[in-house]
Amino acid sequence: MAVVAAGLLLAVGACTADPGAEADGTAVDTAALPDQSLRELAGDRLAVGVAVSGGGHRGKRAQEPITADPLYRALVGQQFSSLTPENQLKWTYLRPDEQTFDFDGADAVVDFAEEHGQRVRGHTLMWHSNVPAWLEGGDHSADQIRDLLHEHVTTVVGRYAGRIEQWDVVNEVFDDAGNLRSAENLWIRELGPEVIADMFRWAHEADPDAVLFVNDYNVESAGPKSDAYYDLVRDLLAEGVPVGGFGVQGHLSVEYRFPTDVAENLQRFADLGLTVAITEADVRVPVGADGPSDADLALQAEYYERLLEACLDVEACTSFTVWGLGDAYSWVPSVFDGEGAALLFDEELAPKPAFDALVEVLEAN
Ligand code: XIL
Repeated sequence: MAVVAAGLLLAVGACTADPGAEADGTAVDTAALPDQSLRELAGDRLAVGVAVSGGGHRGKRAQEPITADPLYRALVGQQFSSLTPENQLKWTYLRPDEQTFDFDGADAVVDFAEEHGQRVRGHTLMWHSNVPAWLEGGDHSADQIRDLLHEHVTTVVGRYAGRIEQWDVVNEVFDDAGNLRSAENLWIRELGPEVIADMFRWAHEADPDAVLFVNDYNVESAGPKSDAYYDLVRDLLAEGVPVGGFGVQGHLSVEYRFPTDVAENLQRFADLGLTVAITEADVRVPVGADGPSDADLALQAEYYERLLEACLDVEACTSFTVWGLGDAYSWVPSVFDGEGAALLFDEELAPKPAFDALVEVLEAN
């Protein structure tokens, strides 16, 4: 552990010295917490992040675990140095109607992060999915859509300026063949591909210090999709557009081979001058009536280990975020039939072999 990490560690220590103590007096069984902390092991080399549950496939709830579940809160505080609201900053959640911004869910995450000395990744300002029905089914003119988008970026990024360090400004704009999702993505369809550059300019105006990312899945390896990002980013940079990061989501499955060129692929984006990150890691496994097999959980651990190692191999890879704390919160079973158990902690929030594997990687680095 480098000496320069001492300040951070002290801060971490101050926050997690008594992870069992809850502000409302609810005690957490500290025996349920791991002895090791990913955030402490990673020190200042790497932010270890987690998506904080809220909205999305679980629906909007009055009480989310980040405010209501003491063990969830204790683990998120103890283990992670970066938080991403899983859905709370997406259009459908934030914009119940055209006039309203509902910041409650995102505020809860950002407040928690501040109380626990954690960074925040903002996800996401433009995505073809999660467009509210009032907009997708509405009859707005292109000018009105452009005004709405500009207002959205300015309001949301502006509200969290200085508190949200990185933004996934555009999410999943290419399909797997490397074509822009021009039909599927309302924003690109109505406003043209130039809106991508505008998004970065608007976000930068609202918070000049935020690092502004493109983010996608199936871009772990070189191939048509990540090549499309490479060309896009290179061209944007040549035009002086303030793009600053390349986010690789990292949704993996043990049923596919592990992508062996992750580090190499991240490095070519780093060579453009970008910060790079693993932003949504999970590794899904087949789940039958008896749950996941031990063999698959061991293979899952190996995939997590290799993904983290790939990030650590690249100096510009400064964060590694998992897409949810425990298997009860994961989006995987709602989307991938017969698969699940994709996260570091199980349904009861007990650590899995994948957690131990990440501890080992961090201890060795
Ligand atoms: C998912 C959430 O986890 C679900 O709760 C929600 O219902 C749909 O979105 N890529 C992304 C994330 O960029 O925003 C997605 O999150 C998972 C895939």
